[in-house]
Amino acid sequence: MQAVITGASSGLGAEFARQLDAMGYETVLVARRREQLETLRHTLTNKSEVVCMDLAVPENAQKLFERFPEADILINNAGFGLFGAFRESDPAVLERMIATNVTAATVLLRLYGEAFTARGSGYILNTASSAAFMAGPYFALYYASKSYLLRLSQALACEWKPLGVTVSALCPGSVATEFNLRAGTTSSTKPISAQKCVQYALKKLFAGKAIIIPTAKMRAAFVMSKLMPESWLTAFSCRVQTKRMKEK
Ligand SMILES: NC(=O)c1ccc[n+]([C@@H]2O[C@H](COP(=O)([O-])OP(=O)(O)OC[C@H]3O[C@@H](n4cnc5c(N)ncnc54)[C@H](OP(=O)(O)O)[C@@H]3O)[C@@H](O)[C@H]2O)c1
Repeated sequence: MQAVITGASSGLGAEFARQLDAMGYETVLVARRREQLETLRHTLTNKSEVVCMDLAVPENAQKLFERFPEADILINNAGFGLFGAFRESDPAVLERMIATNVTAATVLLRLYGEAFTARGSGYILNTASSAAFMAGPYFALYYASKSYLLRLSQALACEWKPLGVTVSALCPGSVATEFNLRAGTTSSTKPISAQKCVQYALKKLFAGKAIIIPTAKMRAAFVMSKLMPESWLTAFSCRVQTKRMKEK
């Protein structure tokens, strides 16, 4: 049994690799930083391959699938954010975010989705975020990219369940990883550990849950996001992120 894990060089992806390895899975570790991937690979018990790859480069997601078409699990996890005013953001970084968070994730879903449904089995976990629950002023493109991934996951979970394939969207709040530092901000809430997040995520993935929210607080936020008018939700999000901007 083999799991392909994108974004495995740190944070949640590295933790997915460790926990799936402990369950007996062979792993394929995908990211750009070779040294981190190799270090991780040496700590794993089962067979593991390193794929040093920039998923923002068109064609790379397809190349990844073509190398590992027989995988049983896809952890579609690579992604990043950029905090700050949209109008001042580097257009090249925004483009890279769409290429990584949206395009590469979609291509992998399309290709592994076809292979898994043809076989009648397989698990796909898309790392979305609680950012998917609302618009995110000053984190605009990141929040929008995670909303996209959540909606795509929900639709495909429904399409592919009768064909034997589970699709889940993982929607954590803050997790202690390199994410916020690389996004140019600090966490607005107390983060949970990657270990706790991944343990919960895998339990729910194998139980067939479509939307996975690891903490009670974020599950309550999800329910609130359904009850509140959109305008209130955006105003709330704007207040939180504006405060963050001032602290930047
Ligand atoms: N931490 C949080 O609070 C939080 C909350 C909700 C959702 N998330 C989501 O969780 C996922 C994992 O993030 P993390 O929290 O574990 O942060 P992280 O430690 O920064 O990990 C991000 C991973 O994505 C990889 N990556 C980024 N761009 C890539 C590219 N172009 N090609 C290949 N790999 C790429 C990075 O590897 P390289 O740099 O080596 O390529 C790294 O392995 C992301 O999708 C993020 O949006 C995080």
